[in-house]
Amino acid sequence: MENLEANFDDRFAARTRRIQASTIREILKLTTQPGFISFAGGLPAADLFPIQRIGEATQRILQKHGAQALQYSTTEGYLPLREWIASRLPGTTPDQVQIVSGSQQGLDLVGKVLIDPGSRVLVEAPTYLGALSAFNPYEPEYVSVSMDDEGLELDQLEAALKAHTVKFMYVLPTFQNPSGRLMGLERRKALVELARKYRTPILEDDAYAELYFDGRPLPTLFALDQEQGGGNVVYLSTTSKTLAPGLRVAWVVGPKPVIQKITFAKQGADLHSPTLNQMLVHELIQDNEWYRAQIDKIRQTYQTRRNWMLQALQKYMPEDMGWIVPEGGMFFWLTAPAGLDSLELLKKAVEEKMAFVPGQPFFADGSGKNTLRLSYSSASQEQIEEGIKRLGRAVHRMLGREPVA
Ligand SMILES: Cc1ncc(COP(=O)(O)O)c(C=O)c1O
Repeated sequence: MENLEANFDDRFAARTRRIQASTIREILKLTTQPGFISFAGGLPAADLFPIQRIGEATQRILQKHGAQALQYSTTEGYLPLREWIASRLPGTTPDQVQIVSGSQQGLDLVGKVLIDPGSRVLVEAPTYLGALSAFNPYEPEYVSVSMDDEGLELDQLEAALKAHTVKFMYVLPTFQNPSGRLMGLERRKALVELARKYRTPILEDDAYAELYFDGRPLPTLFALDQEQGGGNVVYLSTTSKTLAPGLRVAWVVGPKPVIQKITFAKQGADLHSPTLNQMLVHELIQDNEWYRAQIDKIRQTYQTRRNWMLQALQKYMPEDMGWIVPEGGMFFWLTAPAGLDSLELLKKAVEEKMAFVPGQPFFADGSGKNTLRLSYSSASQEQIEEGIKRLGRAVHRMLGREPVA
């Protein structure tokens, strides 16, 4: 019998030809070997998932809602959950809230309703790689804007907005993935004003909003825009970093005309997000005291792991390696001396049995060759100490220097 698999080769849609096997993914496959230490994945700490609580809450929901919890439900999402989300964002109503299957789906749906081939999308340099993967099939052209310690550089941003007609700008103001940066209050206000001045909508991705270590959360771009009259920010957040990513419950909030289009697009994608999971999230967050305590536990754990990694970096990295100390979130972002290619460094690191993610894929303009991302969220103290020691050895080998230890 003939196998017709090869018949697909010339039938793939043009946009899927843009999806290629990545060298990095191939290298990272090696990290499953025994003894390997990887800071490459961006996984939330599994030891903090509220397993028992989820088991008990699921039982209660099945008793309370029965078959309804397992039935098809509305595309917009479970109303009590949408009401809770709207109550946390100033001046919004539940009909401005669309529940999505992870904020990753939110990125895809926003791409689907806003991007035409050739549309310009303004992104931070670096930006979240998953957003580039979500937008790419819709064939945008990216306008990359550089960042300083506090995020987007406003003079560069204004120059870009003057030079191009931009469909929307995608911004991660709070503990950005990958760089861990936190945009300060003044910068946030100025950014929102600039976006309004140039009538350019903002897509705000706030996946790490709750994961601050010290101090208080800063107002979202969405909230600041509301103070100016609203209507210019589409906001995304998720339960993936506070409850569990496998639940795939997240939300898009924005102006009603945008949300309506997103609802139509979602209907075509998956009809709705899982009914049971939405009810489960609602049941869990109802107990506000428990929910706050759960988030506090995550914050404290990540802060401790951040501190271990910082100490290890100070001990094992050469002086000309730079990094941003994250005040929340899950990542360290390192900048190596110019000329050090982090993909080559990854190959050396893999020989030492450790891994990270090279930074270049996070740049839509292909820059950032000497940058890399390390995740500390799921690592133990021993893994962090030993993993950074191995990275230090690989860096020193690349630079032709003697390692510290
Ligand atoms: C910035 C950012 N946005 C979106 C996502 C996707 O999250 P989820 O689809 O689990 O909500 C992630 C996941 O790591 C992320 O880092």
